[in-house]
Amino acid sequence: MTLKNPAGVNDLLPDAAHKQQLLVRAAFRVFGCYGYRYMETPMFEKTEVFTRGIGEATDVVGKEIYCVYPMNSIAGVSPDDRSALEGLALRPENTAGIARAVVQHNLVPPGAFQAKLWYAGSMFRHERQQKGRYREFRQIGAECIGATEPSADAEVILMLLHYFEALGIPRSHMTLKINSMGDEACRPAYRRAVQDYILARESEFCPECQRRATGNPLRAFDCKSEACQAALSAAPRITEYLCEECASQYAQVKQLLDSSGLAYEEDPRLVRGFDYYTRTVFEVQVDLGLGAQNAIGGGGRYDRLLQEYGAKPTPSLGFAVGLERIVMVLEALGTAAALPPAAQVFVAAVDEEARSQAFELAQKLREAGVSVELDHQARSLKSQFKVADKADVGFVVLLGPDERAKGSYTLRNMTDGTQQELTLDELLQLLTER
Ligand code: HAM
Repeated sequence: MTLKNPAGVNDLLPDAAHKQQLLVRAAFRVFGCYGYRYMETPMFEKTEVFTRGIGEATDVVGKEIYCVYPMNSIAGVSPDDRSALEGLALRPENTAGIARAVVQHNLVPPGAFQAKLWYAGSMFRHERQQKGRYREFRQIGAECIGATEPSADAEVILMLLHYFEALGIPRSHMTLKINSMGDEACRPAYRRAVQDYILARESEFCPECQRRATGNPLRAFDCKSEACQAALSAAPRITEYLCEECASQYAQVKQLLDSSGLAYEEDPRLVRGFDYYTRTVFEVQVDLGLGAQNAIGGGGRYDRLLQEYGAKPTPSLGFAVGLERIVMVLEALGTAAALPPAAQVFVAAVDEEARSQAFELAQKLREAGVSVELDHQARSLKSQFKVADKADVGFVVLLGPDERAKGSYTLRNMTDGTQQELTLDELLQLLTER
């Protein structure tokens, strides 16, 4: 029986891996222009990092977290008793992990300049698998830790759009949605209002939203059921509940976006799925390549998150983008990068005697920075050419009795079929110049 990958957890074959790597390289370039530094946190953390940060009542923590146990610790322990074991979980997102690490390593002591950090890697959520929604997926994210002013919000949003444009996604295909979720002063009243609204017309909502009404009523705005969305049409709007500070902060963010010429849509129903958000939230949606899962990135402020890990108040914000989804958009646009040939040059041995010479030459060329492939299966010259052709190399270097006798190298240009006889120095020079 052949073994296969689990549902929603996909292999990243070379072509897909190459496309994602280019997204990471572009992030190094674009985020670097804004002063961000790359860092990594562990793929799994104490579960508490996520429950405290993301919130127990969220779908991500309540239903989608993968718990991690060492095999020997669960032997003989019934699933019901496992909560007594040290709780570890695969990260469902990376903002909580970054916040935990920033506090642990005191990266932003009180009064310090903001820390700008970015990351790339796999996240894990036990979601219902569908197009653009996977159980392991890769994100690139950026977090600006320790920044209070609305200019930080505008800068983060501009960087996100700058990044997408640098990847070749035209603005005309993207919609930037923004909202303010208020803060601990004004959101509780809004939550109550939404809760009362749902409970007053409970039968119009799906069982899931009915359940959410008490624990996390704002999640109803994200429900995919048309009936729930229709029932929410007259629901209270957060904008009517914002306290003065939140309203002013939101107005300033919009003003800065206006003066940057960045188009956006205000969406008072944009609530996003994590409890850590306060004030500004945003999402970028696209109109091609993705279907229902059309958000390629999103984020917002989390002014109180770092306090959950023991820091002094450290207002912060950030975003993450989904690499699989971005690649799907680039493919739909027809601009996804093709996987380049694995090697530029194939060194072919004409006869048995030339094999060790071919081996040595390949190594010399590689050490000079040329990518080289050669045969390790004693193929005939004809088959070696077939392989070289299939591998789409630009050049074949031929080594055989003639070359041995003359101490030369025959270089065939595979594009136009021309051949030249070269010394080793000439060969090295020509190929390294390419
Ligand atoms: P998020 O909206 O959950 O935010 O994820 C960000 C992006 O990751 C989404 O817009 C989407 O492109 C991608 N994504 C999410 N779930 C999946 C999935 N199951 N399969 C494929 N792609 C997915 C966060 O994760 C926050 N940590 C963002 C943030 C950073 N907020 C502040 N700082």
